[in-house]
Amino acid sequence: MIPKEKIDELREKLDIVDVISSYVPSLRKRGKNHMGLCPFHSEKTPSFTVSQEKGLYHCFGCGKGGNVFSFLMEMENISFGEALKIAADKAGIPIEAGQFAKAQNSASQATNKLFTIMELACKFYEGSLDKIKEYLDERKISDPKSFRLGFARDGWDNLLNFLLEKGAKIEDIEAAGLILKKQSGSGYYDRFRNRLMFPIMDQQNRVIGFGGRAVNNEEPKYLNSPESAIFNKGANLYNLGKAKDFIKRQKFALLVEGYMDTIACCEIGLDNSIAPLGTAVTSTQAKLLSRFTKVVVLAFDSDAAGLSASERAQEILEEAGISVRIASCQGGKDPDEIIKKLGKEAFIKSVQTSIPATEFKIKRVLGRFNIKEIEDKVKAAYEIAQFLSKEKDNLLQSEYAKFAAKLLNLPVEEITAAINSRNNYQKGGSNLKRAIPKAPSKVKEAEKKILKLILEWDEALSKIKEELTLNDFNQYKGIFEQIWTIKNNDILSSINNESDAKVLREIALSEEPLSNKDQMLKDCISSIKAFTIQNEMGFIRESLLMAEKNGEEETVNELKKRQLYLNEILRMLIR
Ligand code: CTP
Ligand code: MN
Repeated sequence: MIPKEKIDELREKLDIVDVISSYVPSLRKRGKNHMGLCPFHSEKTPSFTVSQEKGLYHCFGCGKGGNVFSFLMEMENISFGEALKIAADKAGIPIEAGQFAKAQNSASQATNKLFTIMELACKFYEGSLDKIKEYLDERKISDPKSFRLGFARDGWDNLLNFLLEKGAKIEDIEAAGLILKKQSGSGYYDRFRNRLMFPIMDQQNRVIGFGGRAVNNEEPKYLNSPESAIFNKGANLYNLGKAKDFIKRQKFALLVEGYMDTIACCEIGLDNSIAPLGTAVTSTQAKLLSRFTKVVVLAFDSDAAGLSASERAQEILEEAGISVRIASCQGGKDPDEIIKKLGKEAFIKSVQTSIPATEFKIKRVLGRFNIKEIEDKVKAAYEIAQFLSKEKDNLLQSEYAKFAAKLLNLPVEEITAAINSRNNYQKGGSNLKRAIPKAPSKVKEAEKKILKLILEWDEALSKIKEELTLNDFNQYKGIFEQIWTIKNNDILSSINNESDAKVLREIALSEEPLSNKDQMLKDCISSIKAFTIQNEMGFIRESLLMAEKNGEEETVNELKKRQLYLNEILRMLIR
């Protein structure tokens, strides 16, 4: 294997402009960068850009880009190992021939150790599976091996000693999240003890983390691996590696909340089941899923928490262009329980008879009101209008308005009027609107500048993390989600999906000067915060309207207080 240092040395030693010039004769210096006619698509005016300093190329026309190695790979249609060989020849750096075959890209070099450790740990836990047979029987898991389930025996250092014996280094085991430093004294102890272990795999079925379930009534019920260089909870889904082919074939994914639910579903033949990793569904996960299917059936827990998680997931999935359907989980807390209690047919039927999420939401509202009474009927209509007003597809909106009108026994015009009055409200005639920078283009611009700052300025990220949370971002939220968890400082090569990498390259290569960085950062943060607040204020205005209609005096007062408070902050931000 070629060590990462060697690859980095090669990349630094090679002048990307030299290498690319021999393929792109039109390459000329323009400002800080070089530009020429793109070798990957036909064009008459140059949009192919190379940054000598950053060792990057990017075509603003066709979007292709990367570093010197990916250029050679693309140009010569060769593997990474072969590109390294050519690069080494050009740079005059000797590398043994045998090493090329095994060479992988530099980012994965650094993480290989972690993959090896996780795989060893997984095998170790699998080896103790028989010790937990009783529990598996009790939970009616018939094929634990196909999920590589295992058991972490009780004891402080079973895994630690095993891995040390295998030659793993303490700091790597710690980086993998498998051991913890003792609080007093020196040394380490196993993170997972006396737990049923669910290995979490990436799309290539490599073990990247674990979820450990208590087998007694210990707390917490589930203990998960912390994030690491290979484990990004927001960018992976439980069982996706095994499920993806089924998802493509069946043209939908079944998204459930828990590991146990996923396994229970797979065991009754719903092999397209997946779950998030103990956190809310993220836009990165939604984008990932949208590569395999445009339909997701949600079968979340039937309690209030499950319903609200389901609604949040719906929004995020829909933003990624996915149609969401709901399988109503009645007769048990979650899919696993329903299957065990009512049998597999009952659950499969609820998946087969899933209904579109918006229809489900309308029906849910109707269920909460007694629509035979006029006041209740009106309240229900307003609530439905409120979320229908957010539907971006006009046709869908008007069809759902008709659907709701029919169920409510109201003329559709009234629902439409209610929807439009909401819309006007959201657009807002309030005088605050003028003071706030015009979102979202200004906000989009601020997010872009923040990305630029992060790319060029080492201190930026920690400063930003102090001021903003992931929820403050809009346009580039998916990218920020990834950046938030990247451990090394090579952001550009750590982003694993091409469309995000493309956006980042364009930003990295933009010529915009970064003068007063501190001020720029401050301004961007203010714009973004202002937009978050503006959004909340819009929401409050809506709720206020509703509360006033319903005569909920206490709520009205609360909301007004919050309004004043937000106004104050906003004034400070845009001063
Ligand atoms: N979860 C977690 N940490 C917890 C509790 C839950 O990470 N302390 C995550 C796990 O991914 C779990 C999912 O949330 O699979 C759903 O939690 P829950 O419904 O409580 O568990 P079940 O999946 O139903 O597991 P079980 O049937 O074993 O109770
Ligand atoms: Mn359960």
